[in-house]
Amino acid sequence: MLQSLTQSPSEPQFVQNPYQFYRTARKAGDLFLWTDYDRVSAVSHQAVSAILRDRNWGREIPSEFRQASPEHLEPFMQLERNSMLEMDPPDHTRLRGLVNRAFTSRRVNSLEPEIKRIAECLATGHESQTIELQRSFAEQLPVMVISSLLGVPEEMCGQLLSWSHDMVAMYQANRDLPKELQAAKSAGEFAAFVREQIERKRAEPANDLISDLITAEDEHGRLTSNEMVSTCILLLNAGHEATAYSIGNGIKAIVESGQDPADLLSPARRDATVEEILRFDPPLHIFERHAKRDQSLFGQRFSRGDTVSVLLAAANRDPNVFRSPDDFIPGRTVAGHTSFGAGIHFCVGAPLARLELAVGLSTLFEVHPQLSLTEAPRYADRYHFHGLEELWVSLGNRPTN
Ligand code: HEM
Repeated sequence: MLQSLTQSPSEPQFVQNPYQFYRTARKAGDLFLWTDYDRVSAVSHQAVSAILRDRNWGREIPSEFRQASPEHLEPFMQLERNSMLEMDPPDHTRLRGLVNRAFTSRRVNSLEPEIKRIAECLATGHESQTIELQRSFAEQLPVMVISSLLGVPEEMCGQLLSWSHDMVAMYQANRDLPKELQAAKSAGEFAAFVREQIERKRAEPANDLISDLITAEDEHGRLTSNEMVSTCILLLNAGHEATAYSIGNGIKAIVESGQDPADLLSPARRDATVEEILRFDPPLHIFERHAKRDQSLFGQRFSRGDTVSVLLAAANRDPNVFRSPDDFIPGRTVAGHTSFGAGIHFCVGAPLARLELAVGLSTLFEVHPQLSLTEAPRYADRYHFHGLEELWVSLGNRPTN
């Protein structure tokens, strides 16, 4: 029998620490009914991993269950309909193949000096000893990197952040009509801007990802102009929102652990530290999948069209997979965390995100080895995103106890 649990996703205590609720939910088994969403939710590592990999569960709602979206959302929905993140095969395979062709590991690895340059620039030159790092560092680094990768002018970064924040408000628990209207407006403006960029690069190709996507499309074809616009916007948005939160969560985890940042982020240890940051406090907590056919899963019957939530961050704290899961232990074996998803939608940008975290965090702590928190950081009320509202730090000596 499926256990029902109630937990408002905007209750302040839950927003600050959702892991307590996940622990309770895990005791209910692999699946439970989250009454606030009226949705069966997968909470164990084995259930989350299985559903993400199972081709009987897709991102697309089966056609007979789809409802027309309200007209005021059309500019936003047009981007969604053409986004590979929202597609199942064969369309997903077609779009993802083209992105993979342009998003090579050679291109990603070549970005290391540029990421370091941007991180140094953001970390230095502060007049005050006490600064706010979420907006001045964590949020800026990924948007500057992804803009440079796609070939979007750097002076557009502020505007990209604003369009992106408006659009991701659509996935948050506290969505309302004013937020929907703003999201649709921003989606329309963003699409018009990206169309212009694509035309510019068609006329004058450069050494960037938009130009590479155009080449891949010319050579391998089969991408509509709406799909091209959606792909660029998906890369720009997915390319910074989650990474920005992860950088902030990573700084918090390192400083609060009391461990030596220079050691944790030394060349020998930094990759393992980044993996533990991603496992311990991931930025994206919940995704959905829809049943493609009638089926049984972990003892429950599902009908075609049913929706389940997969709780990525809960899977990362499953004691059946991770010893002392609530402790931050850089260097532990973390193979199998689900922060980047799993299966066919596994994050395209994972290598870039890992590099940005490794280079960004090591540069920040090299420049400010004495960095310490001046107040307890608070998470923003944006479930299912999990990232800090503000991160106030002192750049000087650590306070002595
Ligand atoms: C720490 C940072 C990041 C995290 C935690 C993260 C997490 C995820 C997750 C969980 C998914 C799968 C969603 C699902 O299965 O429904 C995903 C997909 C995706 N991510 Fe990331 N991501 C990060 C950074 C990035 C970056 C830097 C990019 C850069 C381009 C990116 C681009 C994408 C794209 C395009 C998809 C869709 C893939 C598909 O549908 O096949 N992400 N990401």
